[in-house]
Amino acid sequence: MESKTSILITCLIFATAFQLLLPVSEASGCGSTTTSDLKIGYYKDKCAKAESIVKSTVSYHVKNNPGLGAGLIRLFFHDCFVRGCDASVLLDPTPENNQTEKQAIPNFPSLRGFEVIDAAKAELEKECKGTVSCADIIALAARDATYLLGNISYEIPTGRLDGRVTNSTEALLNLPPPFFNLTELVASFARKGLSTAEMVALSGSHSIGRSHCSSFTSRLYPTIDPTMDPKFGASLRKLCPDPQNTTTDGVVPQDFVTPGKLDIQYYKNVESLTALFFSDWSLLTSTETRNQVETYTKEPEKFNQDFINAMVKMGNIEVLTGSPGEVRGPTCRFVN
Ligand code: HEM
Ligand SMILES: *[C@@H]1O[C@H](CO)[C@@H](O)[C@H](O)[C@H]1NC(C)=O
Ligand SMILES: *[C@@H]1O[C@H](CO)[C@@H](O)[C@H](O)[C@H]1NC(C)=O
Ligand SMILES: *[C@@H]1O[C@H](CO)[C@@H](O)[C@H](O)[C@H]1NC(C)=O
Ligand SMILES: *[C@@H]1O[C@H](CO)[C@@H](O)[C@H](O)[C@H]1NC(C)=O
Ligand SMILES: *[C@@H]1O[C@H](CO)[C@@H](O)[C@H](O)[C@H]1NC(C)=O
Repeated sequence: MESKTSILITCLIFATAFQLLLPVSEASGCGSTTTSDLKIGYYKDKCAKAESIVKSTVSYHVKNNPGLGAGLIRLFFHDCFVRGCDASVLLDPTPENNQTEKQAIPNFPSLRGFEVIDAAKAELEKECKGTVSCADIIALAARDATYLLGNISYEIPTGRLDGRVTNSTEALLNLPPPFFNLTELVASFARKGLSTAEMVALSGSHSIGRSHCSSFTSRLYPTIDPTMDPKFGASLRKLCPDPQNTTTDGVVPQDFVTPGKLDIQYYKNVESLTALFFSDWSLLTSTETRNQVETYTKEPEKFNQDFINAMVKMGNIEVLTGSPGEVRGPTCRFVN
């Protein structure tokens, strides 16, 4: 406690002295952002069963409903892109704040998997109260879902703390919508320190899970967008009526060929103009990204490795490891 406080004070002095010269978090490692603050096996001596508890909880739920695995991977993305990987996406509205991230358009009503995080947190609180952060639970759950749906296994550093702030506007500003073009997608990921190649690799997630019709009906009506295969467009029209004539918003699989498998089929779909979103199609609009798509269709091992590296890197975005972070509990839905 004492040494932590003195490090923090040193940090603050250092930061104050140098803040005109360098970005604080990168220069000093104070509080956030530095990847070295996280480590593989962080909970080994604090809560030895932490990772296995998350794994068995995720496994139980995903075997029951594979869609939840897709939900968990997307949850990780949506957590990390808004205020960093701090579990801000999990916070429920309160009388003081009913404009939360989870209520924002990119998340509501589509984001899912919250009950899996709740179940894991409940088990973890029983095993070692107040020890495992909700942000780490999300990162581990996404890792375990990646294995269950893609047979892609990797270790992910932990030691994140949870944030105390959630703001729906920030979700809207930081999460890329499906109508973004390549320039906008690249900029969105670059703001989070991710490269164009990492964006293309992470987009492989669209080989699992589902989408609501509303995310792509603008490509179907009034006419089928020429960036979409006409037969595919016609079949989507049958599943998703013109929003002008209906009040329901149905769902369809992201990948009609291997819907429950996290694999390179997504890239084949992009190439054959049978991916759902304009943003998916946009990966064909530069030589660099088109070549990467093409490569992944032929080299699944390369996709697996690039996907792993990009997931780990995404997990380092603006992480909290000191003040103002906390290990949230007893539930991930409310700050302490
Ligand atoms: C490149 C920019 C991206 C855009 C524009 C985008 C957009 C979307 C949209 C609109 C949906 C459908 C939501 C719905 O209507 O139900 C979706 C689903 C999904 N996205 Fe993305 N996404 C992007 C990148 C990513 C990344 C980086 C990941 C994870 C690493 C990801 C993982 C997923 C998953 C797994 C689903 C299916 C969710 C489910 O079944 O519950 N996406 N995405
Ligand atoms: C949200 O909070 C604002 C301000 O506190 C309040 O005026 C509004 O009625 C609340 N909305 C809902 C849906 O609770
Ligand atoms: C899963 O991946 C491993 C390599 O990581 C491979 O040896 C194994 O055959 C794969 N299993 C299946 C069912 O594809
Ligand atoms: C939420 O974030 C937006 C965009 O950064 C900001 O303008 C707004 O003041 C924030 N709201 C609250 C309540 O802090
Ligand atoms: C992408 O969208 C932005 C914003 O609408 C626009 O300014 C830009 O010209 C578009 N770029 C391409 C290559 O279409
Ligand atoms: C749906 O609405 C459009 C006008 O937006 C109309 O032309 C079309 O006939 C309607 N389709 C059905 C099945 O009612």
